[in-house]
Amino acid sequence: MCGIIGYTGPLSAKRVLLDGLSQLEYRGYDSSGIGFFDSDFSVKVIKTTGKVARLKELCRDVPEEVHCGLGHTRWATHGGVTQENSHPHQAGRVTLIHNGIIENCHQLTTDYHLEGKLRSQTDSEVAAWVLDALYDGEPLSSIRRLIPLLKGSYGFCILFSDHPGEIYAVRNVSPLVAAYTRSGSVIASDLTALIPYTRSYTVVPEGFVVKLTPYRMTFYDEEGNQTNAETMEVNWDTDSARKNGFPHFMLKEIHEQPEALKNTILPRLTQGLPDFKADGIGDELFRECSRIRIVACGTAMHAGMVGRALMEPLLRIPVQVSVASEFRYEDPVIGEDTLTIVISQSGETIDTLAALRLARERGSRVLSIVNVKGSTIARESDYVLYTHAGPEIAVASTKAYSVQLAALYLLLCRMALVRGKMTREEGKEFVKDLLDAVPAMDAMIGQSDVIKTVVRPVVSRQDAFFIGRNLDYAFSLEGALKLKEISYIHADAYAAGELKHGTIALIADQVPVIALATQDSVFSKTISNVREVKARGAYVILIAKESAPVETGAADAVIRIPDLHDRFTVFPIAVVLQLIAYHASVLKGVDVDQPRNLAKSVTVE
Ligand code: M6R
Repeated sequence: MCGIIGYTGPLSAKRVLLDGLSQLEYRGYDSSGIGFFDSDFSVKVIKTTGKVARLKELCRDVPEEVHCGLGHTRWATHGGVTQENSHPHQAGRVTLIHNGIIENCHQLTTDYHLEGKLRSQTDSEVAAWVLDALYDGEPLSSIRRLIPLLKGSYGFCILFSDHPGEIYAVRNVSPLVAAYTRSGSVIASDLTALIPYTRSYTVVPEGFVVKLTPYRMTFYDEEGNQTNAETMEVNWDTDSARKNGFPHFMLKEIHEQPEALKNTILPRLTQGLPDFKADGIGDELFRECSRIRIVACGTAMHAGMVGRALMEPLLRIPVQVSVASEFRYEDPVIGEDTLTIVISQSGETIDTLAALRLARERGSRVLSIVNVKGSTIARESDYVLYTHAGPEIAVASTKAYSVQLAALYLLLCRMALVRGKMTREEGKEFVKDLLDAVPAMDAMIGQSDVIKTVVRPVVSRQDAFFIGRNLDYAFSLEGALKLKEISYIHADAYAAGELKHGTIALIADQVPVIALATQDSVFSKTISNVREVKARGAYVILIAKESAPVETGAADAVIRIPDLHDRFTVFPIAVVLQLIAYHASVLKGVDVDQPRNLAKSVTVE
């Protein structure tokens, strides 16, 4: 969850590290710090609680002539948000930053008699002291001796005080990408920090140690042999990780959705039908499975819920969705006949990764829908369908959700064709309807000001409810998550017909109810439920199709979406729900892009 960066080279390390931390701040923003070789070759550390902006203030006097250092932005796990618990941690000749969790830190504390030495409550400082105890002046072999002692996940970047100008790094599960460029060597937890310097990068292989100097980057395998690692190309540009005139990343990313959708769909069409040959996915995968499990977390799981609601009725095979963190406790019935679809924007979510591993252990083939190229989930899956949303920086997921849906719709269509549940003509019609969703999203982005006006009365409320039936219910789950995570208004989604079984007791004067009624087959039933809450004083925002017959007075505000086939209304709906949350957050004056307690990439269980 933490953001880490290391740099050694001719540029000002202070600039590279602080700029990099600003790019990485979305990974964690409880505290931040840098460690660097000063002009007298000693290692200095500056760290503070709070955002990177505060660290920048504290670093004003760090000379530009500093050329090698590490930077860290923290999402607290072990130990509270204090300066002592901030990274880097120093232990003897070792200065270290860490992303991940060392599960056996207490045992290591005992084994290495560290009780009197530790200044923080962090597992990371324990690792630093153990490494210092193992250190014999030879960084590579010392790190290799450390690796088998550690249980858990880690991405470490390390300075040894007697090796100025050098950075060493190693990882297990937690991501690290590195590059040697004309401007020096740079390593980070995330590509966004690398793209100002290079388009080529290497995902540090797990268990390998990498040594960075201003002149080269060298990889060493598990046996300590110098080796090569695969170089990859970044598939997005520097601009995509900047705000480009938008006040918030979230708003920018909402606006990017129509383009992202096209980028994900169009390259996968042959003669108007989905085709995954270029992704290396053959039709036998779809023909041979007799059940589907979808596993993901948060927003990605909500995309899966939409996928499920479409797949089972059309494909006529059981399709189940599981929250990744619960998957192993379900002791799932899966085997060779199961296709497991794993969905993850970052490709690093540890719960999702653990579920993927369990599914593969049980013989299931795993197809993942992932946004970040070369991520752990992508590399461990049997098949990968990359979404092409570009980097998503706002913690609240927006464009990643839309492209995950687009990928699921393409999969659904191909599976239905292969399994004889759709003719080619029906398939082409399906794809055409899917593409019609692109201008429909644009149309709703154009309604932003209207949405802002109808959201105003919601902002002063403590609770809000999202209701809908069938697909609308699946969509409303995401609406509730979006609202609560960035506006801190408690929000829940309910199947509209379920309210009368208890929840309607909470509906009172002016309680906001966002009602989704975009499914023709259940429209009148949902409207009946809207009447029930309206009669009890709720403030109702109704979202319905352009041509839907809504009586005057049925709701306090009606947001109309373009008339699409029922299956595809999620795309304009997603924009509406995202804008409801966005405006609520802005009107409340809270941090839209970095909501409290959250981080973008969740690499702890
Ligand atoms: O990177 P992932 O898609 O695996 O992340 C899963 C969730 O943590 C993520 O979707 C989260 O719920 C969103 N940030 C919410 O907006």
